[in-house]
Amino acid sequence: MYKSIIRPILFQFDPEKVHYFTFSLIKNFSKIPGVSSLIRSLFQVEDPKLERELFGLKFKNPVGLAAGFDKNAVLYNELADFGFGFIEIGTVTPKGQEGNPKKRIFRLKDDQGLINRMGFNNAGVEAAIENLKSNQRKVLIGGNIGKNTDIPTEQYTQDYCDTFKALHAYVDYFVLNVSCPNVGSHAKLQDKDYLLELIGSVQKLNKAATSQKPILLKIAPDLNKQQLDEIVDLVAETKIDGVIASNTSVNREGLKATEAALEAIGNGGLSGKPIKDRSTATIKYLADKSNKSFPIIGVGGIHTAEDALEKIDAGADLVQIYTGFIYEGPGLIKKINKALLAR
Ligand SMILES: Cc1cc2nc3c(=O)[nH]c(=O)nc-3n(C[C@H](O)[C@H](O)[C@H](O)COP(=O)(O)O)c2cc1C
Repeated sequence: MYKSIIRPILFQFDPEKVHYFTFSLIKNFSKIPGVSSLIRSLFQVEDPKLERELFGLKFKNPVGLAAGFDKNAVLYNELADFGFGFIEIGTVTPKGQEGNPKKRIFRLKDDQGLINRMGFNNAGVEAAIENLKSNQRKVLIGGNIGKNTDIPTEQYTQDYCDTFKALHAYVDYFVLNVSCPNVGSHAKLQDKDYLLELIGSVQKLNKAATSQKPILLKIAPDLNKQQLDEIVDLVAETKIDGVIASNTSVNREGLKATEAALEAIGNGGLSGKPIKDRSTATIKYLADKSNKSFPIIGVGGIHTAEDALEKIDAGADLVQIYTGFIYEGPGLIKKINKALLAR
């Protein structure tokens, strides 16, 4: 029903407007008595065999919602009803910011992909905290954090630290997003020495807190072997809890979309089917090179249950979806969980 009726209607409209429209639809429908439990009975797959224990957390299933969908933590419980084992909010920055000028999300229908240059539009950490406080969470929540766009490079670490400290009591794990292609001075965030400093600073705050939260690093699918080797070394040196591979890609090779269409779209990060293999290759390289010595969350182009199994076979412990959720609808989560049980 999603692909034959709902998607063709939604795809007639601007992607960002559709995003906010479906958000308010889900929020309001879920308030009607009985709707949440109906959604749960349709979509959730409960089975102890799906449970995963990773970095001290118990996930009821390994299929999560990737960052960027519920940036301000307004819909995580309603989204959890669709069967997700965990939801990653954010990217959250210290202060709220508008992000890039609209229009900033584009569908590549023939490629089953998206290009976005949202630029960390979010309401800021205080707003996210208010939302997390007012809605007791039914599911594990990851806090994906970043820096504000208009700050000098010397302030990057402070921005991550401020958001980390403020959000610490309200999320189950953290993700340092250092791989968004849509924010300025992105190069510094890929420099190993800088990452050592950043991770060390956040870990220091974590140690000083009353309880410790797992911290993961989210990387791009565009890193070469030398850069991936550096990531493996970085994890070994810092003992950071894991890696999320991957974010969106700046590589536009092999797309069905025409040069002219891509030029009209302009800059942005590519997600969905076209990045599937790149992201899987990144996971496999990290897993092989490290002898699978740290947890990996696999994300990028999962549109079918087989795509998810492929990520797991490559070395992912958990998976996340974003673009596949838009193209395939909420039934995808159940399909993946069923396929995992059938194994
Ligand atoms: C519109 C959009 C916004 C996104 N925003 C964020 C974000 O704020 N932070 C982040 O870490 N990743 C963000 N992502 C990246 C996704 O979390 C995911 O890593 C990427 O899209 C690859 O997965 P997919 O192919 O399943 O979409 C965004 C992706 C899209 C399409």
